Amino acid sequence: MRARTALEALTRHPLSFLRSRWPWRSLAYLLSSAVLGVTVAVVAVSISFLGFVPLMVAAGLAAAALVVPSVARFERWRLRLVDRTPLASAPDRLWREVGLALVSLLVLWWIDLVVVCFTIGGPVVLILSPAVQPVEADGALAAALTASVAGSLLLPVAAYALSVWAGARGAMIRALLAPREADLAEVLRSRARLVDGFETERRRIERDLHDGAQQRLVALSMRLGLIQLDVPPDAPIVAQLAQAQEEARRALAELRELIRGVHPQVLSDRGLAAAVRDVAGRSPVPVDVNVSLPRRLPEPVEVAAYYVVSEALANIAKHSRAVRARIHGRLVDDVLVMEIHDDGVGGADPAGGTGLTGLADRVAVADGRLSLSSPTGGPTTIRVEIPCA
Ligand SMILES: Nc1ncnc2c1ncn2[C@@H]1O[C@H](COP(=O)(O)OP(=O)(O)OP(=O)(O)O)[C@@H](O)[C@H]1O
Ligand SMILES: [Mg+2]
Repeated sequence: MRARTALEALTRHPLSFLRSRWPWRSLAYLLSSAVLGVTVAVVAVSISFLGFVPLMVAAGLAAAALVVPSVARFERWRLRLVDRTPLASAPDRLWREVGLALVSLLVLWWIDLVVVCFTIGGPVVLILSPAVQPVEADGALAAALTASVAGSLLLPVAAYALSVWAGARGAMIRALLAPREADLAEVLRSRARLVDGFETERRRIERDLHDGAQQRLVALSMRLGLIQLDVPPDAPIVAQLAQAQEEARRALAELRELIRGVHPQVLSDRGLAAAVRDVAGRSPVPVDVNVSLPRRLPEPVEVAAYYVVSEALANIAKHSRAVRARIHGRLVDDVLVMEIHDDGVGGADPAGGTGLTGLADRVAVADGRLSLSSPTGGPTTIRVEIPCA
């Protein structure tokens, strides 16, 4: 499976890790801290020019109010360099962001730059030593070349060191920004429970209906038509035969609908965004749909996400007493992230039925995960993340 964080990548085979993009992503992540350093320097220098203490305090507070949300947004944005799992917003977001901005601006940025200087700077200076050292003295060239080789050998060590710090820093940022476990608990999933039993069963039912019952109804309808040809046109049985044929036609039409319901036609024809709009359009609770996907996703991903949306909307209609619902869907770094939110009474509990745990299984089969936040009193958010690569 693909690594989702720099720390996970470290556990891979060394060659695979060193050839991957993770060391470079870690380096880019740490180097981007220079932006924070420049921000601190600009703000500090500008304030020191003011000279008058009360004015400096007021300017400091104003700068903090401006900088805190931007620092949080910047940290959230660049976290994807070392952690591909999308980050949900916590309800107590403001305080978390203030804490994060303080830690980032006071401590983390310069540690990042020091780590980069030591891990990359050391080997690079050694590698370049034949070029920068005077080599007239006896043996100096040999020593410089040895230093250069040693520097090259240290580069993989530097890659590990960078990734360790970048990964740990990313984990810390996630811990600061992400909702607590209780806020957004992953619904228990069990791959072993059903593996891909859903898809196999769905296809079996679809095939059985298609090859069995549908064919029989077609044959029945044709036989009734043939019998009609054999009886005199004015016989009283003709009307009854026509009625029977009409019944067979309706049964066939219903069966076709049913087959389509088992495998939503709009989903295979027009993709997930259209299918979500379609199912949301039939919901008794008004739903704002904001799903924008740059391309068609793999079929198991589309099917799993579609069923999450249908069950979530069914639950909203049945249990939530919501006035409005909202569906948001995006592809973030090749991970489909969908959120279904309602402003209802909350208190959704996977233990209360089979729908939510069934969804968690379905999503787990597609290698994704399903999280639920539904405090008593509401609101309820179901979030699903499914990798598409
Ligand atoms: N959006 C929601 N708002 C409020 N409560 C919810 C919501 N969704 C689910 N619930 C609560 O969580 C319980 C579990 O939901 P789940 O979908 O697992 O089962 P269900 O809908 O009761 O039955 P089924 O197995 O037919 O889906 C529900 O019984 C309901 O009490
Ligand atoms: Mg349900």
